[in-house]
Amino acid sequence: MAILEQLTSQQAIELENKYGAHNYHPLPVVLSRGEGVHVWDVEGKKYYDFLSAYSAVNQGHCHPKIVGAMVDQAKTLTLTSRAFYNDLLGRYEKFATEFFGFDKLLPMNTGAEAVETALKLCRKWAYEKKGIPENEAQIIVCKNNFHGRTTTIISFSNDPVARKNFGPFTNGFIKIEYDNLQALEEALENNDNVAGFMAEPIQGEAGVYVPSEGYLVKAKALCEKHNVLFIADEVQTGIARTGKLLAVNHEEVQPDILILGKALSGGAYPVSAVLANDPIMEVIKPGNHGSTFGGNPVAAAVAIAALEVVRDEELAENAEFLGQLFRSELNKYIAESNIVTLVRGKGLLNAIVINDSEESETAWNICLALKENGLLAKPTHGNIIRFAPPLVMNEDQLLDCVYIITSTLKEFEK
Ligand SMILES: Cc1ncc(COP(=O)(O)O)c(C=O)c1O
Repeated sequence: MAILEQLTSQQAIELENKYGAHNYHPLPVVLSRGEGVHVWDVEGKKYYDFLSAYSAVNQGHCHPKIVGAMVDQAKTLTLTSRAFYNDLLGRYEKFATEFFGFDKLLPMNTGAEAVETALKLCRKWAYEKKGIPENEAQIIVCKNNFHGRTTTIISFSNDPVARKNFGPFTNGFIKIEYDNLQALEEALENNDNVAGFMAEPIQGEAGVYVPSEGYLVKAKALCEKHNVLFIADEVQTGIARTGKLLAVNHEEVQPDILILGKALSGGAYPVSAVLANDPIMEVIKPGNHGSTFGGNPVAAAVAIAALEVVRDEELAENAEFLGQLFRSELNKYIAESNIVTLVRGKGLLNAIVINDSEESETAWNICLALKENGLLAKPTHGNIIRFAPPLVMNEDQLLDCVYIITSTLKEFEK
């Protein structure tokens, strides 16, 4: 079979099943094109994308400015490694640090790599600046977190599917309840070896859990009191998704370490980053950490373009406006519904909870029906469906999607 021969959906699925590891359970749809808020399958059927590649495609599919920057740079210089300087990285670092308000940026590629980088940075700071005895540093994390898939990161996951038979695990993490300040205070009290507290400002993969108002700002204050770094994992919530540039901006919190990924490239290319101020970032010295691809010229050009799109097209403001509309429209439906218990979220990161057991197939079956009706979404966990469309959506499109979602849900009402 020639590699460029047009495949049917069935053929494409069979190829992946036969030749690919089965580490995902995708919805049975095979996409071959995307533009803005839409994607098309190989048979030409058009869908609204309500996942946005887990919030990577905030700027919409194949945004011409981002793709243009990528293609231009790809024709000029793709990779030098950090053995040499390149003429894009410094420009990108200046742009991004000013954009987010930090002194320095450490470039990586995937979200998990950036989380690993943040953990290493936090530990090194703890030994060299805070004075924690070597190998004693602990980092507080939250139950039901999702920070990626590396061995260290799954060491503090409590998802049995992500952990089973992948041990032994990495030590040095304390797990506490999310959205529980008392638990944080207790973990910080009488423990001089705590280096950092890492949290998602909204727990995305866990099912879009929005913490109580004031949680982040109070957590940051507790960290300051105990000379502990507050690490915000904004890989999913960042870059306008929740209606602000960063989700921590809802409470005007400045993290000590900020982790970004996904929409930092608008989904065009793997680009992630860790940002911090000089007193923290300066503990990293040549040879301490790195990545062959991190900070390459294509990534740098793409990230500048992706952030400019967020700013110039006012995507945070649009996400805030459409998010309010989405939740108010769905709440009208939920008031009369037996199958949906609630909608929650911020900006255009939302989820509905289905009135069925966590083990039930209902959420999955609703997503199959949504697909038939021209909208792609995926359950996060069990009975929760996340709705996260590209932020370039307009009001008419959003209302069209609300219609598709509510009329599909009606098929499942008891
Ligand atoms: C909060 C958070 N952190 C980290 C990651 C990992 O990112 P990646 O899949 O690019 O490694 C994700 C991915 O969903 C995420 O949601």
